Amino acid sequence: MNMKIKGTGSALPPKVLTNKDLEAMVETSDEWIRERTGIESRHISEKDTVASLATKACQKALENANQTAESVELIIVATCSPEMLLPCCACQVQKNLDARKAVCFDVNAACSGFLFGLQTAFAYLSAGFYRNALIVGSEVLSKIVDWEDRGTCILFGDGAGAVYVEACEETHFLSFVQGSDGSKGEVLSCNDRSLFGAQNLDRFVRMDGREVYKFATRQVPLCMEEALKKANLSVADVDFFVLHQANLRILEAISKRIGAEMKLFPYNVNRVGNMSSAAIPVLLDELNQKGVLLEGMKLVLSGFGAGLTYGACVVCW
Ligand code: ACO
Repeated sequence: MNMKIKGTGSALPPKVLTNKDLEAMVETSDEWIRERTGIESRHISEKDTVASLATKACQKALENANQTAESVELIIVATCSPEMLLPCCACQVQKNLDARKAVCFDVNAACSGFLFGLQTAFAYLSAGFYRNALIVGSEVLSKIVDWEDRGTCILFGDGAGAVYVEACEETHFLSFVQGSDGSKGEVLSCNDRSLFGAQNLDRFVRMDGREVYKFATRQVPLCMEEALKKANLSVADVDFFVLHQANLRILEAISKRIGAEMKLFPYNVNRVGNMSSAAIPVLLDELNQKGVLLEGMKLVLSGFGAGLTYGACVVCW
């Protein structure tokens, strides 16, 4: 058994924070942020939660697939910024959707989380355990970002993206590659143990930007090439590279390294910033809604993030 993406959906909180707004908050400039990251604005949640954004994205994915929540058998939420430890976000989404039949759990692989969730669903569906699934990446990173740290606060945004998949006989997912390197965990971390009563702990996201940059530009091309090889395809066969949206400079470096034109790398990081696990499914939904994705197109999805973690898959749309 294989699986097919039958519907996509996304949700962004209404409030937009521009680089100009950030100029009033930390010592930075619109020009510096654009030049180093390509980011112009991001959406910031005022009332939305990881669970509420995930619910909205799932509702839209179900609508797009002409399905109702009652038939959903599996819900996987990828998030690294859940507002509650228990119950997991996927169970909250189940309750909101009234998807009573579904088995629900979260995965945390930071910015690779959506891809890890997708591969987990693939394993369940291809083994015949379930016939369909919702996989959603949802983040409210604005709650774990230090708004006084100009090195990180300019990068992140909030949002959620979801796909609804169904088991099928035809081969739509051609290959998956995943990897983790726990020895580099300190490069990108967030140590919020305030919940456990720890005093004076730094509870915000901290990042060694240069190390993340080096990791992403080295590892992503390697794992995309490995995924293409497994699928018996080459870079020239790919219609679009739908990558984690961390930074435009990273996308440009990757496009050069693998020898594929930048026009094959759609992006929205300029409008929405880095939404971690939500980045890939939100971009996928935007492309789907615009009608850019045609049947039979070959897509490479690839992500990288804290852990460190990385992954890629090749999909025939
Ligand atoms: N505005 C103005 N100046 C700034 C800002 C800012 N927002 N942030 C840092 N600076 C200053 C620094 O203080 C430093 O000043 P100094 O030379 O006087 O010490 C100077 O700019 C250069 O700082 P660097 O951190 O070396 O800047 P760099 O060119 O590396 O760019 C960036 C920083 C954009 C974060 C880069 O390292 C990068 O793209 N890293 C990849 C990380 C990334 O995209 N992470 C996303 C999250 S992780 C993920 O999604 C997996």
